[in-house]
Amino acid sequence: MVIIRQIGVNKLKVSNDTFMFEVSAVLDEKGQLTDDCVRQARTMMDTHGLVILTNLLSDEEANVGLELIRQTIDDPDRNRGSFASETDNLYVRRDFCSLPSTPRVTSFAAKLCQRLEGVLSEYCGRSRPLLEVTTLTSYLGSSHQYIHRDPGGVISLFVAVEDVSEQQGGTVFVPGTHIYGGAENKHGGKAHALMNLFRIQCNYRIFLHNLKKLWSMRKGKSAPLASGEFLDRVFSTKWDQHQPNLLRFLLGKNSQFDIHILSPNILWKLYRHRDDLRNQFQLIKTAPRKGTVILYRSDLLHAGPDNLSPHPRRFFGISIARDIVDPKFWHDGYSPHPTLIDNPMSFGDLLDYPQRPQ
Ligand SMILES: [Fe+2]
Repeated sequence: MVIIRQIGVNKLKVSNDTFMFEVSAVLDEKGQLTDDCVRQARTMMDTHGLVILTNLLSDEEANVGLELIRQTIDDPDRNRGSFASETDNLYVRRDFCSLPSTPRVTSFAAKLCQRLEGVLSEYCGRSRPLLEVTTLTSYLGSSHQYIHRDPGGVISLFVAVEDVSEQQGGTVFVPGTHIYGGAENKHGGKAHALMNLFRIQCNYRIFLHNLKKLWSMRKGKSAPLASGEFLDRVFSTKWDQHQPNLLRFLLGKNSQFDIHILSPNILWKLYRHRDDLRNQFQLIKTAPRKGTVILYRSDLLHAGPDNLSPHPRRFFGISIARDIVDPKFWHDGYSPHPTLIDNPMSFGDLLDYPQRPQ
């Protein structure tokens, strides 16, 4: 069933019809994707910037990932990520953290890379670094991230370790907005300008959606606000790019969405290109079943939506560089665990990693 859901007062349309971005995973006798699957997946990655590989992991394999996430979340000394929204992390609306390079974690990451070698090796050479292994958990009351691009030159993957419902909300993507040589020639040679306008239009609606939801949470019982949370999310001077922070919006301190972005010139362009924006871009929201793996190019427009259900949404994530990476860029844009910084691993190391019984 296709649901076009609207969030915010200004009709941000999100489709849950992801069928045209899916490939049903078939494995060969070595446990790798078959050549036909690899071809389909690469075509999707190149055409749309993402591919949703259904049934890549068995239930038992996904359970291993879920157990690794639970162990990490239960550890009071876990290494919290500075990405996504630090305020959401602070108020336990999200729990994004990196996983240590233990044999079990590395073995799980290696199994994924080995299974996906045919697709990943098209983009990442063997010497390219593993940038992070993370868990991403979102709870009721989290903010909807603004539509953004991650730092470029990276392939990321999310593993659904349990079924994710539409209410829990898997990642939102804008297919076809990835960047490559000549990409601007699309949409009549106006692709980059139109993508930017579409992003602004979405983020305006997400800003209002988050603000409205936070206001209603003041008196709601399902996700009561913690002491000081409302002020921290709306009027704080602290850096956080994914909150409906009015103060930082007015001060022009949020590079994702602030008052500088809404210049009269941009407002005029949003009006002038309203039909192009409506007809040429589409937001899709994934709701992956257990064992599904989503691969995407880091420069594809996307966002982690808010979880609207009382059930936590959990993903296991990996990011691998497609090029050499400056350490500062690496540590600013991704969240490697200290054990991974001390003992860096490459894509080739993961491909060669021996599989042990879990
Ligand atoms: Fe992101």
